[in-house]
Amino acid sequence: MRAVAAAPSNIAFVKYWGNLDPALRLPYNASLSMTLSAATTRTEVVFDPALDADEIVIDGRPAAPEAAARASAHLDLIRARAGHGHRARVASANSFPMGTGIASSASAFAALTVAACAATGLALDERSLSALARRGSGSAARSIPDGFVLWHSGADDESSYAESIAPPEHWDLCDVVAIVSREHKAVGSGGGHGAAPSSPFFAARQHRLPERLEAIREALLAKDFERFGAAVEAESYELHAIAMTSRPPLLYWTPATVALLHLVARWRAEGLSAFATLDAGPNVHVLCEARRAQDVVAALESLDSVESVLVNRAAPGARVVEAQS
Ligand code: DP6
Repeated sequence: MRAVAAAPSNIAFVKYWGNLDPALRLPYNASLSMTLSAATTRTEVVFDPALDADEIVIDGRPAAPEAAARASAHLDLIRARAGHGHRARVASANSFPMGTGIASSASAFAALTVAACAATGLALDERSLSALARRGSGSAARSIPDGFVLWHSGADDESSYAESIAPPEHWDLCDVVAIVSREHKAVGSGGGHGAAPSSPFFAARQHRLPERLEAIREALLAKDFERFGAAVEAESYELHAIAMTSRPPLLYWTPATVALLHLVARWRAEGLSAFATLDAGPNVHVLCEARRAQDVVAALESLDSVESVLVNRAAPGARVVEAQS
């Protein structure tokens, strides 16, 4: 009863922010993303009848109590479906720093879901795996399918899942992540989802989102980078406006974040086409076409405020790497 799975993180072009049903993680809105080739989690799960409790190790260290409890709760869902109560040994390794605005919970829960299901012999299709991963972390639903992915908000557990709208090779879009901080963020996205509806602008964002999603989806399918980038950047600013005006207010940006946002706008004025988007953290995801990636990387690497740079293309979704059930 052992399996290893690998899963990519993802960057949302239309973001998930707020849950209609927090227990089931049914989001207020549909979202759209790209899986990330250079930001992955590899997870081994071994169900062992001799264990009294789950043992969760992340990046070589026992998981903090809150993270361990969240992983165990997710394993409980899988144990209930598989019809056994065996505890598990879980070892997870990330290719990128956790808790910094690269969605580590997305790749973590996608890899945990796929490895645990394979280890226990549960053969679920992609849609069911995506819905199940969503229960662990909403954005994990989008790390199951390949490439460019749409998460249908859905009305219940089964109808809230993600699917691919285009394969990784559809577009050579790059997400160049400028890591300005490796510190674990003080407020995770969980608090943000809860606070989101308290923003006076939340309803306005929700009202506009279906049209916004359609525009971004069309630009993505047409590979119209200027139209796509402008709409994605605007959507990111709207999400952060909601976060900043929630009760309590959430400000994920640091001075380095703000400087980079100004810089990306200046590059555009100077003819280097790139757009910025941010998740719930200070690092800046700079989107560009592959032919501009070297220029973007060189410019970011020359800045003192940037600790490292991660270049991502669209990638395949979560998959089993090894299994013995
Ligand atoms: C800003 O998926 O991390 O990155 O369901 O509580 O685990 P939980 O939230 P999470 O939220 C991601 C928020 C976001 C936007 C996005 O990825 O869509």
